[in-house]
Amino acid sequence: MNVLIMYGTTEGQTRKIATWTATHIRERGHHVVLLDSAALASDLKLEGFHAFIVAASIHHKHYQDTITNFVFAHRELLNARPSAFISVSLSAVLEDERPEAQKYVDRFVSVTGWQPRTTLLLGGALRFTEYDYFQEQVVKFIVMKRSGTAISERDHEFTDWDVLADFVNRFLDSAG
Ligand SMILES: Cc1cc2nc3c(=O)[nH]c(=O)nc-3n(C[C@H](O)[C@H](O)[C@H](O)COP(=O)(O)O)c2cc1C
Repeated sequence: MNVLIMYGTTEGQTRKIATWTATHIRERGHHVVLLDSAALASDLKLEGFHAFIVAASIHHKHYQDTITNFVFAHRELLNARPSAFISVSLSAVLEDERPEAQKYVDRFVSVTGWQPRTTLLLGGALRFTEYDYFQEQVVKFIVMKRSGTAISERDHEFTDWDVLADFVNRFLDSAG
């Protein structure tokens, strides 16, 4: 199977997730093309792919514009082939914020018109040592304060790689 993984990232965690996913799928014997939505060639040809995985992260409740534009432009093809969406956020790992994480996906589906066959709400990472002042304020006072769960202000990766592996395996089984 020929699989396209398209990802959007701002601080790099979704690139790590997409790269891990590409390696995992290749190990299962499939051909994978991994593309960053921020660096797309204008003559991108999608017809040759049998399945699509889109991964994007949330900032200020929104995915990267480059991902929204890509999905909107190709929604008919994405709807016609097996496709999966990996939504990366902090809300995904906070129990009382899971409905918020689901809202990001619901709004994305309604704005773009893409109906992924399967969706994963996946935890991202917090990298306080790499944030500038404004990023740090947003994470501390908007994202973390909204939730009742206490999170330490140390760098931390929340991504559950076993959950991701399960999700990708189920998707490949259903697509193949
Ligand atoms: C400035 C900023 C704003 C964020 N806003 C949200 C948000 O509104 N909701 C949420 O669940 N997570 C939010 N996050 C958490 C990110 O989704 C998380 O850090 C993710 O791992 C980022 O992925 P990336 O490194 O691929 O860009 C925010 C993070 C930052 C730095």
